[in-house]
Amino acid sequence: MKILILNGPNLNLLGTREPAVYGSATLSDVEQLVRDRAAKLGAEVDFRQSNHEGELIDWIQQARGNFDVLILNAGAFTHTSVALRDAVAGVGLPAIEVHLSNVHAREEFRHKSMIVGVCKGVIAGFGANSYVLALEAAVNISEASKNQ
Ligand code: DQA
Repeated sequence: MKILILNGPNLNLLGTREPAVYGSATLSDVEQLVRDRAAKLGAEVDFRQSNHEGELIDWIQQARGNFDVLILNAGAFTHTSVALRDAVAGVGLPAIEVHLSNVHAREEFRHKSMIVGVCKGVIAGFGANSYVLALEAAVNISEASKNQ
């Protein structure tokens, strides 16, 4: 089972970026946490980050046929990008939205996600562990679809 994990803008700054909000783990730390769990679950993970909307869209489009589930932390694009939503809807891969912070406990502009409506669900507020929870959900989704 192959899982694509995409990270959007500014997530490369994790570790030094607003640590009171996002914690002290770097994106590499998050990746390692996910890889450790993936190894135990027998999942293959491709973990990427881009600050560019178009690059994220290209990666989502290329995921069709190459991955079973998409996990997406689109960062601020979550709240603005119809194009990312259309890409997720367009490839038809099951997707999970993930956030380190609890976006619903923050500024109002973060309460709206353009993407969640085309996802299976969203996990937010558990710091780096949000990604591990999303990975577990992705494995469940993938196994459930194979048993159908
Ligand atoms: C974030 C939440 C977004 O609102 C913000 O723009 C980010 C990070 C999170 O993981 O908590 O860049 O997606």
